Amino acid sequence: MSDKDKVIIFDTTMRDGEQSPGASMSLEEKIQIARIFDEMGVDIIEAGFPIASPGDFESVTAISKILKNSIPCGLARSSKKDIDACHEALKAASRFRIHTFISTSPLHMKFKLNKSPEQVLEAIKESVSYARNLTDDVEWSCEDGTRTDMDFMCKIVELAINSGAKTINIPDTVGYTTPSEFTKIITTLKNKVPNIDKAILSVHCHNDLGLAVANSLAGVSAGARQVECTINGIGERAGNAALEEIVMAIRTRNDLMPFTTGIKTELLSKASKVVSSATFPVQFNKAIVGKNAFAHEAGIHQDGMLKHRETYEIMTPESVGVKKTSLVMGKHSGRHAFKEKLNDLGYADVTDDVIQTAFGKFKILADKKKHVYDDDIAALVDDSMVLDKYVINLKSLKVFAGTGEPQKAEMTLDVYGEVKNTTETGDGPVDAIFKCIKVLYPHDVKLQLYQVHAVTEGTDAQATVSVRIEEEGKTTVGQAADTDTLVASANAYLSALNKMIIKRKKTAPIEHETQKVKGI
Ligand code: KIV
Ligand code: ZN
Repeated sequence: MSDKDKVIIFDTTMRDGEQSPGASMSLEEKIQIARIFDEMGVDIIEAGFPIASPGDFESVTAISKILKNSIPCGLARSSKKDIDACHEALKAASRFRIHTFISTSPLHMKFKLNKSPEQVLEAIKESVSYARNLTDDVEWSCEDGTRTDMDFMCKIVELAINSGAKTINIPDTVGYTTPSEFTKIITTLKNKVPNIDKAILSVHCHNDLGLAVANSLAGVSAGARQVECTINGIGERAGNAALEEIVMAIRTRNDLMPFTTGIKTELLSKASKVVSSATFPVQFNKAIVGKNAFAHEAGIHQDGMLKHRETYEIMTPESVGVKKTSLVMGKHSGRHAFKEKLNDLGYADVTDDVIQTAFGKFKILADKKKHVYDDDIAALVDDSMVLDKYVINLKSLKVFAGTGEPQKAEMTLDVYGEVKNTTETGDGPVDAIFKCIKVLYPHDVKLQLYQVHAVTEGTDAQATVSVRIEEEGKTTVGQAADTDTLVASANAYLSALNKMIIKRKKTAPIEHETQKVKGI
C-alpha cells in the first residue's frame, strides 16, 4: 500500500463520452467496456443518465450487475424523478453512487434554468438530501462551475455537504478555465468552505481550449482528489480530460505530482482500442494511445534510442500495454493457437461464436496477406463482435473501377433474411457501393464522415474504414477492416446503418427528454 495520496479515477466515457456526436454505444459495447474498466482499476464508472432514455436506463442497470470492483454511478438532474430513475437503475449493485447536478453560474441560472440563486439553493438542499436518503454515496456537481461567482460557490458547496454530498465536483463545463485559475478555485474552496474536510473535491474538465488535462492536474495539485475523465478524451464537443493522459502524467511526473491512482496502466491501450472501435478512431499522434505515440521516425531519434532508450522515451510502450507489433500466425495456424493469441491480446472473454467468426475471417486473411500482425487480429475480432445483432449483411460485392468507364458495383445483401441484389453506377466506386445499399435497403441518412486508414504496414495491409451517418439528429459510427478497402467501405457503412436500426428501436417515448438532457 502506498503512503501517497490516492487520486480517485471517475470514468465518464459511457455518459459524458457518449454525448459526443457519433459516440453512441450499444449495450453490448458498454458491457465490454465496463468489464475492462473494472479490471483496469477505475474507481467509479458513470454508466449513463438513467432518466435520459430506456437505453441509458438499461445499460446502467446491466453494468451495475456485473461490476466486481468499480462502483457504478448514474447521473441525475436536481429532480426527484431523475434521482428515483438513477436509484432504480443502480440498486442491484451492493454499492453505488448517485451523481446529481444543477447549473450555478449567473448565465446558466438565468437563461438555462430561469431560476434565482435562492431557488437554486433550495433545489440543491432538496435534491442532495433526497439522494442521500437512497444512498450514502452522493456526488453533487455545480454545472458551469468555473463561471460561477466564487462567494456563491463557497455557499453552495457548504450547503451540498451539509445536505449529505460526499463528493463535490467542480466542472469546467465549457472548457473555459486555465490551470492557474482552476488552482485558485480549488484553493479558495479548501480555505473558505468550513466543512470542506467532510467531502472529496473532484474536477471535471472539458477540452474546448485544449486545457482539460492541464486544468485537471492543476486541480489535483491544489487539493482535488478525484478526476472525472474519459478514455481517448471523448466527450461533449472537444471532449473531456483523457483518462490515459491524467494517469500517465501522474505516474511519469510523480516527482511533481506525488499521488497514486489504482489504474493498471498496462490495460490502457486495450481500453482505448475497445472504446475507439465502439466510437471513432483515435488520431495517430494522440498522447499515450495514438498509433504514433511510441514511434520514432527521425534517424537521429532512432539512433539515440538505440544508444539509450531514455534519450527520447519518457515512458515505455509496455507500461501502457503496447507490445511490439509481432508477426503472429500464418495460414497453417489452428483454432487453438488463434484462441491463445486472443487471450494474449486481451480478448479473453469473447464468446465462442465471436471466436468462430473471427477465426474464419483470419483464415481468409492469412490466405491473402503475407504477414498477419496482432493489430490485424484485433481488427478482425472487433469486427466480429457486433455482427450477430446486424439485420443487413453483405453477401457479395464486385466493383468495376478505373479510368474511362463509369464505376459500377454489383452487390448482394441479406436484408432481414431476404437475399437481394442490384448493380449501380456511381461517382467513384465507393459512391456506387453506397448507392447499392440505398437501393437494397431504402433509407434516408446523411453521410457525415468517410475515413480510411491502414491497420498495419504494406500494400497488403488491412484498411480500416470508418463511416459516420446521421438521421434526425442521431448519429452512429461503423467501422470495418479488410485487405480490400472497398469491401471494408461497404461493411463500415452497413455497420453504421445496422447500429442506426438498433438505435431506432431503442428510441423512447421520452425522446424529447433525451434531447433536452443530452444538451447539457
Ligand atoms: O460538464 C458538465 O458540467 C457535466 C456535469 C453534468 C457534471 O458533465
Ligand atoms: Zn461534462
